[in-house]
Amino acid sequence: MRKRCEVDMRMRNPKYMNEVIENCDFLLDENLFNNENPICLEIGMGKGDFLLNMALNNPSINYIGVEKYSSVASVAIHKIKEYNLTNVRIIISDVINLPEYVYHKIDTIYLNFSDPWPKKRHAKRRLTHESFLSFYNNLFKNKCHIIMKTDNDNLYEFSKESFISFGYKILKDYQDLHKESIFNIETEYERKFSNLGYTIKYLEVEKELQ
Ligand SMILES: C[S@@+](CC[C@H](N)C(=O)[O-])C[C@H]1O[C@@H](n2cnc3c(N)ncnc32)[C@H](O)[C@@H]1O
Repeated sequence: MRKRCEVDMRMRNPKYMNEVIENCDFLLDENLFNNENPICLEIGMGKGDFLLNMALNNPSINYIGVEKYSSVASVAIHKIKEYNLTNVRIIISDVINLPEYVYHKIDTIYLNFSDPWPKKRHAKRRLTHESFLSFYNNLFKNKCHIIMKTDNDNLYEFSKESFISFGYKILKDYQDLHKESIFNIETEYERKFSNLGYTIKYLEVEKELQ
């Protein structure tokens, strides 16, 4: 499973990478969106299918995608720029280095197919480790609200325990998301792994901001 993130890390820089990033007019800045609509943050947006389709389907919700690799983010930017959306912003950064102007602005965090980091000694790198949950407290505006999807059983179990021990209440817990009749926008990894026969696990959790 760890091979998944290595694939992205090894991804060759697209030819258009620098040009696409330099000319991108929806990179995140302190103006955010200039409206009061709710803001969702996708951490590790990859090539951006989820972010793009969520933004197209929900024009009165704002979406920020954060991705740490320029090569991957440039593919998302290339795709999204065709749509001239006003409700999408991208930032190329490790989530932990998000600028403080994003603090206390976020309504929902999406964690889609986060790297599972299967080795125990790497548990701290999982985006649902308590150190990340603690950091996310800085980002939320009112309630802390997280939606995660994964094909990985260990990450699902780990995350559920981590959410509960951090005081989150489980709102939805699906072992096989694609059997549920709820609105679902698929991500690139979701398509890939469900085509390989993996079931998709889904957790939606919430907690008061203390
Ligand atoms: C396994 S991929 C999933 C991509 C996409 N969400 C999907 O479902 O198709 C995980 C992505 O998260 C990014 N990522 C991992 N840790 C991150 C971090 N701390 N900050 C920002 N992006 C991160 C990786 O670079 C990678 O593109």
